[in-house]
Amino acid sequence: MFEGFANVWTPVFLARKLKKKPLPVMLAGEKLVFFRDAQGVANALFDRCPHRGVALSLGKVTPGGCLECPFHAWQFDGKGQAVHVPLNPDAKRERLFAHNVPVRELGGVIWAYTAAVAEAPSEPTVPDALTMKGVALTFLQLEWKAHWSRAMENMLDSPHVPFLHASTIGRFVRPYLKPDSRMDIEWEDTPYGGRTSSTIDERTEAGAALDFYKPNMMVLHIPIPGKVFRMHAFCVPVDDTHVRMLIIGARSFATLSWLNPVFNHSNAKIAEQDRAVVESSFPVQVPRPGDEVSVRTDKATLQFRKYYFAELHGSSSQPRVGRPAAEEPPGP
Ligand code: FES
Ligand SMILES: [Fe+2]
Repeated sequence: MFEGFANVWTPVFLARKLKKKPLPVMLAGEKLVFFRDAQGVANALFDRCPHRGVALSLGKVTPGGCLECPFHAWQFDGKGQAVHVPLNPDAKRERLFAHNVPVRELGGVIWAYTAAVAEAPSEPTVPDALTMKGVALTFLQLEWKAHWSRAMENMLDSPHVPFLHASTIGRFVRPYLKPDSRMDIEWEDTPYGGRTSSTIDERTEAGAALDFYKPNMMVLHIPIPGKVFRMHAFCVPVDDTHVRMLIIGARSFATLSWLNPVFNHSNAKIAEQDRAVVESSFPVQVPRPGDEVSVRTDKATLQFRKYYFAELHGSSSQPRVGRPAAEEPPGP
């Protein structure tokens, strides 16, 4: 399960997308179904009824906040436990369950832990601007035809900004650029991942700091004295060839909500420039460092590759043990 992206907390999708109906969502190659219980708390099960394998997302949420399968109307709670099995009042319900994954709702985002476990061993690391008071947030959710690792590297790659983004954010950097300019990249390991910053010809004003949050998040800090101005890019694996991009802007100025479309429009334009190159990358998944040529300014992306191949590539999780697979059929 969750091949290549197992046993981590990840952002999954924008919380505003989860309303009253069950929502099918693909995450790292697994089909999940998200739903809210009677208290509005988000839950996720594998989107496969343990009885006859049909998609639970075709069912409905009961007034009691359980997910009801469309086929024989078994009802499951947020932990996957069967709580009602019609026509079988004598069924051993404790033996009938769907697999769940741990879920949280924080900062306008739904998060999940990529393993079929009752409880996660940790909590998600949520970049602080998402839950800061006095900060306005803008949300975009996009899907690109690419492996998430290529999208993640793009987000950590400062040297492309003056070129690919010449007409958008790059135009602030271009005035400093000379044919023989030199960029220097710093990388510092942090408890959550790493921080990278860049200078061009030793000028710091051209460079903003970028945070990498394991496993798949980037936060760009745009320096405005005394203000918070950040761009978050979360690269959520859908499957081997699709990535869900959550682009979240955070600002502590011009916080009126009618300005949100202005900020979103600019973020969408920048993302569209990135999409084109990320989707064109081959091989689809980032290769091992020696399989592509690299230079000094690739420091941050090479740090990501080191982490990716050491901790995520090849990872997988097993279905939870300790729960029997299904109820024994009744004897003749
Ligand atoms: S297939 Fe889901 S209840 Fe039978
Ligand atoms: Fe970019």
